Amino acid sequence: MKVTVDDERCRGHGVCCSLCPEVFDLSEDGYAVAQVPLVPVEFEDAVRSAAGMCPERAITVH
Ligand code: F3S
Repeated sequence: MKVTVDDERCRGHGVCCSLCPEVFDLSEDGYAVAQVPLVPVEFEDAVRSAAGMCPERAITVH
């Protein structure tokens, strides 16, 4: 599974980083970045939750 964050939609709410800090991090300017292009299997559920809970719908799983 792949994950991307749309940096034009992200507003830095940080829900993703709280739910799965192993995959998401906040950049210096306060927006989320996916630290790994391929999500390890053990984090897939957390990443799906983050995608569903992001208020800006900025996270896409592929
Ligand atoms: Fe950005 Fe959504 Fe995460 S707004 S910081 S991708 S919860």
